[in-house]
Amino acid sequence: MRRPRGRPQVEPAVPFAAASFADGRARTRGILPRVPAPPPDARSALAAVVSVEPCGDDGALVRLRPPEALPPVRASRFFMLRREDGTSPLIPRPFSIYRQPDGDLEFLVKVMGRGTRALAEAPVGAPVRVIGPLGNGWPTLDGEGDPWVLLGGGIGCAPFYLAIRQALAGMDGAAPVPPEGVTYLFGAATAGLLYDLDAVRALGARVEPATDDGSAGFRGNVLQLLERLQAEGQVPRRVRLLACGPEPMLEAVRDHALDRGLDCWLSLESLMGCGVGICNGCPVPTEPEGPLGAWPNAKCCVEGPVFEARAIASCG
Ligand SMILES: Cc1cc2nc3c(=O)[nH]c(=O)nc-3n(C[C@H](O)[C@H](O)[C@H](O)COP(=O)(O)OP(=O)(O)OC[C@H]3O[C@@H](n4cnc5c(N)ncnc54)[C@H](O)[C@@H]3O)c2cc1C
Ligand code: FES
Repeated sequence: MRRPRGRPQVEPAVPFAAASFADGRARTRGILPRVPAPPPDARSALAAVVSVEPCGDDGALVRLRPPEALPPVRASRFFMLRREDGTSPLIPRPFSIYRQPDGDLEFLVKVMGRGTRALAEAPVGAPVRVIGPLGNGWPTLDGEGDPWVLLGGGIGCAPFYLAIRQALAGMDGAAPVPPEGVTYLFGAATAGLLYDLDAVRALGARVEPATDDGSAGFRGNVLQLLERLQAEGQVPRRVRLLACGPEPMLEAVRDHALDRGLDCWLSLESLMGCGVGICNGCPVPTEPEGPLGAWPNAKCCVEGPVFEARAIASCG
């Protein structure tokens, strides 16, 4: 991890500007703007738990106060987190930035095992090691090309609250996305796993829930919902896709996009060891003919977690 001098710049002005997403006309095969390399702005700090609130059936909103407020973090970048009072496993766990209220860092945590439970049950004041921001984040969500459709599955919703906010506000000097230019399809097994749905609805973009059991919104998955909305003429056929969710969902979204020649970016939730490119614990098979080149694997933590659909051979 490189330690930046002075006050680190969290928003990656140079790499993202170089990605030139503003030029929508250049989006033909081979020159699709790339997801840029992450900026070297990670730091390690000891934060304190400010609050933990239950969210949905098995989640929690965990708000942490770092010793120094960070500049705005790009949506879909992540932090490695570990409670420092012996409750967490030794290896920190990765979490997408969810929100940044008043300089704090907020995470939406689904309880899976010991690491996530430690965070979801943390008392106010508990010390938490925070390493980040890490990874690249979503590409520039601009308002100049095809509309954006965001596909979230379960806890894969975590990088979308900020994505919608940043898209509507304007990113990297590009035109802001108008509210009708972004549609968020949020799928889950059941209504209680549509985490923080009201908050994301309040952002102003179109939000359509879907559940496998039909307990809220459309009955079915988000791709079926997308096809339904397109068949009804509510969403155009040419869209740009972002997706985050379980691996089978991401594989299906990838196939959907490649079959139709749609621009598509996937945020992968690989298991991670270090989060900073050292342990080789997060390989993602790359497409030899794709923009990442012939090297067989990319590191999810450094070259991801966001990948162009055509750059990777699988999402696992
Ligand atoms: C870039 C990135 C961002 C993430 N953002 C979030 C987030 O915002 N909120 C959130 O709740 N989670 C997020 N995750 C997933 C989270 O890191 C894991 O759920 C967590 O590491 C599990 O740790 P644990 O100790 O609780 O469970 P463990 O004891 O390590 O695992 C418990 C069970 O969950 C399974 N598991 C663990 N991790 C995953 C995974 N990534 N995918 C599928 N199954 C898994 C294990 O195989 C095991 O069966 C993210 C992961 C990545 C890579
Ligand atoms: S998690 Fe260690 S190299 Fe990616």
